[in-house]
Amino acid sequence: MQTKLGLKRQVIDNSYNFPLCLAPMVGLTHVAMRVWLKEFLPEGLKTIWPTEMLNSRKIPHEVLGQTPETYKAVNDVDLVPQILGNEDDPIQKTVEKLCEWGVAGIDINMGCPVKKALRHNYGVALMGDSDYAKKVVEVTVKHSQVPVSVKLRAGHQNDKDYLINFMKGLEQAGASWLTLHPRVAEAKRRGKADWSQIRWVRDQLQIPVLGNGDIQSFEDVLSMFEATNCDMVMAGRVLTAKPWIVSEFAAHLGFEVNQELLPKSAEEQGALLGKSLLRLLEIYKDYFDENLGVRRFKFHIKNAHPWLSFGHQLFAITSKAKTYDELELGLRLFFEKPQPMQKYTELRY
Ligand SMILES: Cc1cc2nc3c(=O)[nH]c(=O)nc-3n(C[C@H](O)[C@H](O)[C@H](O)COP(=O)(O)O)c2cc1C
Repeated sequence: MQTKLGLKRQVIDNSYNFPLCLAPMVGLTHVAMRVWLKEFLPEGLKTIWPTEMLNSRKIPHEVLGQTPETYKAVNDVDLVPQILGNEDDPIQKTVEKLCEWGVAGIDINMGCPVKKALRHNYGVALMGDSDYAKKVVEVTVKHSQVPVSVKLRAGHQNDKDYLINFMKGLEQAGASWLTLHPRVAEAKRRGKADWSQIRWVRDQLQIPVLGNGDIQSFEDVLSMFEATNCDMVMAGRVLTAKPWIVSEFAAHLGFEVNQELLPKSAEEQGALLGKSLLRLLEIYKDYFDENLGVRRFKFHIKNAHPWLSFGHQLFAITSKAKTYDELELGLRLFFEKPQPMQKYTELRY
C-alpha cells in the first residue's frame, strides 16, 4: 500500500488498507474486544485482527467457535489467530483446522515470556534456537493455505546481530511478515521498547515488518512510523482504554470518521471511555456467560484504568463486582463525574 505514510510492503495483500492493528493479548483480544474496536474503524477499511493465543496442543481436541478463545462474530473476517507450539503434529493439525475454519493468516508466538512457555520450549524460548525456530515456521507454512507470520521479542540477550540473523532465518523459512516487540524476554512488559531495533531489522528484511511496543496515543502511531519505517503499527494495551486511536488514525489518513469518535479534551476522552465501556459490557453479554464475562471485563479494566487520572477508583469499584449488573452500576457511578484521561501513563502493572 502506498499511503501518505509511504508504506510499500503489503501485509497479506493490497486489500488491507489500514496499517494499524490490535496486538494479541491473552484474556483481552477475544470476540468482544474485536467487535468493539471495529465500531471505531470506518467502513471500507481493512486490517488484520488477532485472537487470543491458541495452544496447538489443545486446538486439535476443541471445536473452533465453541470455546471462549475462538468465539467469532459474523463480521469477524481477516482473523490472524496466534498459535503457540513447537511440535510438528499438533502444529499441522492446528493449522489445518484453522485454515478450514477460515482465517486470513496464522501468527506464531515467539514472544511469550511466561515460565510455562519457557519450560515447554515455546514462546520466547524459541528465540534461543534459530534452527529450531526456522523449523517451526517451515512446518507451519507447509501445512497452511494462508500466510504465516511470527511475533517476536528482542530475544534474550538484546544482541542486534543475533536478532537480525534470527529474523532473516524466519524470512527464509517462509514467514510472510514479522512483528517485533523490541523488549528482551527478561523485561516482560517493563522497561521501554527500543524502537530503533524495529528500524534496524526493517531496513534489512524483504518482508513487511510490523512495529509494536508502548504506543499510548495516536501521535505515537505516527511517531512509530516515522522512527521505524515499519509497515504496520500494532498497538496493544492502549486500545483497551483509547479505542478511538483507530478513528483518529483513520481520520489522519483522510477517511471520513464520525466526529463523536474523535474526543478532543482529556474530559471528552473520559466521557467517551465511559460510554464505550458500557457498550463493551453489552457486547460481553452477547458472548460470555456471566461468570467468565465478569472476570474478563475486570481484566479489561485492569489494563485500561492507568490512562484515567483516577483510574484506581474505577479499578477498586469494579473489582468487587460479581455480576454484569454490578459492573454496570460501578461504571455508571464512576463516570457520572467528569473523568479526565492522561496522554501518557507508566506502562507497568
Ligand atoms: C495481558 C496481556 C497479554 C498478552 N498476551 C500476549 C500473547 O498472547 N501473545 C503475544 O504475542 N503477546 C502478548 N502480549 C504482548 C502484546 O501483544 C504486546 O506485544 C505488548 O503488550 C506490547 O505492546 P503495547 O505496549 O502496545 O501493549 C500480551 C500483553 C498483555 C498486556
